[in-house]
Amino acid sequence: MTLSDLNRLLTGRHSCRAFRPNPVPQDQIEQILTSASRVPSWCNAQPWHVVVTSGVETDRFRAAMQTEAATGAPAPDLPFPTSYSGPYQERRRECGWSLYEAVGVERGDRAGSARQMMENFSLFGAPHCAILSSPAELGPYGAMDCGGFITAFSLAAQALGVATIPQAALATYSPFLRRYFEIPDDRIVLCAISFGYADKDHPANSFRTDRADLSQIVDWVG
Ligand SMILES: Cc1cc2nc3c(=O)[nH]c(=O)nc-3n(C[C@H](O)[C@H](O)[C@H](O)COP(=O)(O)O)c2cc1C
Repeated sequence: MTLSDLNRLLTGRHSCRAFRPNPVPQDQIEQILTSASRVPSWCNAQPWHVVVTSGVETDRFRAAMQTEAATGAPAPDLPFPTSYSGPYQERRRECGWSLYEAVGVERGDRAGSARQMMENFSLFGAPHCAILSSPAELGPYGAMDCGGFITAFSLAAQALGVATIPQAALATYSPFLRRYFEIPDDRIVLCAISFGYADKDHPANSFRTDRADLSQIVDWVG
């Protein structure tokens, strides 16, 4: 294993926003989860827990999620960002515009962008969804550990040719997710990861995001 092998995985991965319906074999899902579990966590607490849906249960959840998004009130367990400013606002806009341009939504077309946003709740057609939660008592550090789990999940999936997208959008309706999947009250719902095989010809999968130059993210001391 060389750094270029790892970089191939890192740069080959992207957030998939259109999936084919074919299921991922159960043994491969288990391999992805086993690999993701190797990430470090504070005190090795391994705070992550996932509910993974497959088959008709994904479709049942998709339908219920769409209904909730159309009728329910937002109540994320983990407070959403209060604002994005400066470079964070610019990067957020840039990736939003890339997506909208790819799917043919013009700037200022609020109905079009809202329609594309609602695709989150159909899981972008994915055959599987993993709902990720962390013990409430671990607070932001549990969530931090789970961030590593999300990344490793995505990379392990990528190594098997399985596409992923982390989705905080679903956590907008955390109480619904907790009720629907009987997630205990002492856990907070962080996000979902929808996964499956990419529809490579779909316009929503036709763009890639950039990354800031090192000069923007590092202060060297010494
Ligand atoms: C924690 C987390 C939550 C995310 N939530 C969403 C989401 O709800 N909907 C969505 O379309 N993308 C979501 N994304 C994907 C990001 O938009 C994406 O990672 C970012 O634009 C970089 O693009 P890339 O993943 O293709 O490299 C999320 C990513 C992360 C890490």
